[in-house]
Amino acid sequence: MLIAGNWKMFKGPAETAAFCAAFEAPAGVEAVLCPPYVSLSAAVAAGATVFAQNVHWAADGAYTGEISAPMLQELGVHGAIAGHSERRRYFCETDDTVARRAAAALEAGLRVIACVGELEEERERGETEAVLARQVAVLEPHPALVIAYEPVWAIGTGRTATPELAQEAHAFVKSLLDAPVLYGGSVKPENAAELLAQPDVDGALVGGASLDPDSFAAICLAAAAIRS
Ligand code: PGA
Repeated sequence: MLIAGNWKMFKGPAETAAFCAAFEAPAGVEAVLCPPYVSLSAAVAAGATVFAQNVHWAADGAYTGEISAPMLQELGVHGAIAGHSERRRYFCETDDTVARRAAAALEAGLRVIACVGELEEERERGETEAVLARQVAVLEPHPALVIAYEPVWAIGTGRTATPELAQEAHAFVKSLLDAPVLYGGSVKPENAAELLAQPDVDGALVGGASLDPDSFAAICLAAAAIRS
């Protein structure tokens, strides 16, 4: 099981080092930290498995504000998230840019967590499967590709998908693409066990609850207990 902590725009290098000193991943779980770019080196230096929160498709070029896969690899970073819903919503990421970012990172040798998930109004209109199919269709299967199913209405809202609803969406994604599927959206120590117990939930992408080493460790422990 893979439990990834997406720190978003939280924790500079000093806080990252402090987190790593306080956090120990339990056996039987792969814990991944996704700090902001400026804190990647601090997490790598602490011996963590580290993914960036985004990655550009070109190796270099005139792309102000972007970071490439070879640059991440030079730092010792192991992978990258692509297509997080906050990137899609606030920074105009499209299925096409997400696909290009994911493909280039995989080609360069990074691992990738590609995020998919429907908006609340899309779920209400009965479009969840159509949205997931569209978002997954642009991704090529690859042994280092992991999908994160994150219903957008559950991210940072405290509203978690029910385990049954998560299972249904995960099974649908797996029917489209052969890849492990993480669940994301208000995963906390209190709800991790029942979500992770679903047969097609292969781990979690955790935002808010990954910022505290004790709560992130509790989620990792819940994962370790299920598949051991
Ligand atoms: P959350 O974020 O756990 O704070 O809902 C999840 C995510 O955005 O990946």
